[in-house]
Amino acid sequence: MTATLVTTPTPTTGTVASPATQAETILSIRNLVTRFKTGDGVVAAVNGISLDIAAGETIGVVGESGSGKSQLFMSVMGLLASNGRATGSVKYRGQEILGLAPAKLNRFRGSKMSMIFQDPMTSLNPYLTIARQMTEVLVQHKGMSQSQALKRSIEMLDLVRIPEAKRRIGMYPHEFSGGMRQRVMIAMALLCQPDLLIADEPTTALDVTVQAQILDLMRDLKREFNTSIVLITHDLGVIAGLADRVMVMYAGNVVETGAVRDIFYSPQHPYTEGLLQSMPRLNSDRHAELPSIGGQPPNLQDLPPGCNFQPRCRYAHARCLAEEPALRPCGEGSAGVPRAKACHLAQLPLTEADRAVIEADRAARTRH
Ligand SMILES: Nc1ncnc2c1ncn2[C@@H]1O[C@H](COP(=O)(O)OP(=O)(O)O)[C@@H](O)[C@H]1O
Ligand code: SF4
Ligand SMILES: [Mg+2]
Repeated sequence: MTATLVTTPTPTTGTVASPATQAETILSIRNLVTRFKTGDGVVAAVNGISLDIAAGETIGVVGESGSGKSQLFMSVMGLLASNGRATGSVKYRGQEILGLAPAKLNRFRGSKMSMIFQDPMTSLNPYLTIARQMTEVLVQHKGMSQSQALKRSIEMLDLVRIPEAKRRIGMYPHEFSGGMRQRVMIAMALLCQPDLLIADEPTTALDVTVQAQILDLMRDLKREFNTSIVLITHDLGVIAGLADRVMVMYAGNVVETGAVRDIFYSPQHPYTEGLLQSMPRLNSDRHAELPSIGGQPPNLQDLPPGCNFQPRCRYAHARCLAEEPALRPCGEGSAGVPRAKACHLAQLPLTEADRAVIEADRAARTRH
C-alpha cells in the first residue's frame, strides 16, 4: 500500500473522546493526517487521529519509537519540518488553528499551548541568560514591564524548585545540570499559564531519581494551575502515576484508549498487551530477559495490508490481513473514561469463539 499526500486513510477511525465530565474541551483534533515527502517516498507518520482534550486532564500518549507520537503534536503546534504537511482539523477552544500562518500561530504558542522536549537545549538559547529568555516571553506575551517580568520569572523558578532562584536566574543554560535545565524549561513553558502543556518524553534523558522528581513536580503543577497535560512517552511506567487516560499509538494510529487502570490491568489490544509484558516489574528478576514484542515496527512508507500490527500479532488471522480494524468502543471503562480499541478480536483474554477462529485459520494455512 503506497500512501500519498492526499489520501485519507480508511476506515475513518473513531474519536478519542474526553471522559464524561463537565470540563470544557480545550483542544479538538479531527482526522489529523501527517505526511512527509522524502527522496524515496511518502512517510505516513499520522494516519487519521481524532482526539478531544478537556480542561485539567492529563493524557498519556504511549507507543514504541516511530509510532507518530511526536509528529502528531508537532502538527498541532505547527512545528512540522518543511517536508511535512498536516491535514484535518485542530481547534483550540473552537477556533481552527491547523495551517495558520506562523505570526497568527505565535499568539497561541507559548501563551495558550506550550511544548517541552526531551532535550531542553532544543528550547533554550545557549547564548542568553535564563533571565533574558524568561522575561522576554512575559514582556512580549503579557505586556509586563522588565521588573515585573523578572519578579514573575523568579517566582516561577521557585515554583519548579530551583534553589537560589534569584541568583541562578542570571546564569546561562549550560551552567545547570540536566534535571535543573528540565525544570527551567518547564518553568518557561508555564510562564504564561497555558491551558495545555505538551511534554514530549520530558524525563527520558534523566536518571531514575531525577525522573521521579520531575514527575512529582508535574503532578504538583497540575494541581496548582489545572493545566491540561499531554505526556508523550515510550515508557508506560512514566504515565502510571500522572495520566487520567491513555492513548496507545502504533504506526500513526490510535490502537487503544481508556482510563490508566483499565489499560494497565486489562489491556484489550494485543499491542498494548505486548507493551505491558515488556515493562520491567519491581518484583521481577532484574537479570531475566524481558519479553519484548517480536518483530519491528512497520515501514511507514509501505504499511502492511489490513491491520498494521498483523505481522507482529500473536492472534493474527485471515480477517486481520484483509480488513483494517476501525477504532471502536469496547467495554464499560472505569471512572467515566470511554474505552476503545482498533482490533477485530471481541476481547482479551480470548473468547472461545475467537480462539476457534484463530486455530481454524492456522490449521487451514498449514494444510496449504
Ligand atoms: N522530517 C521528516 N521527514 C521524514 N520522516 C519523518 C520526519 N520527521 C519524522 N519522520 C518520521 O515520522 C515517523 C513518526 O515519527 P515520530 O512522531 O517522531 O515518532 P515517535 O515520537 O513516536 O517516536 C517516524 O517514522 C519518523 O522517522
Ligand atoms: S486486528 Fe488482528 S492482527 Fe490486528 S491486533 Fe487485532 S488480532 Fe492482532
Ligand atoms: Mg518522539
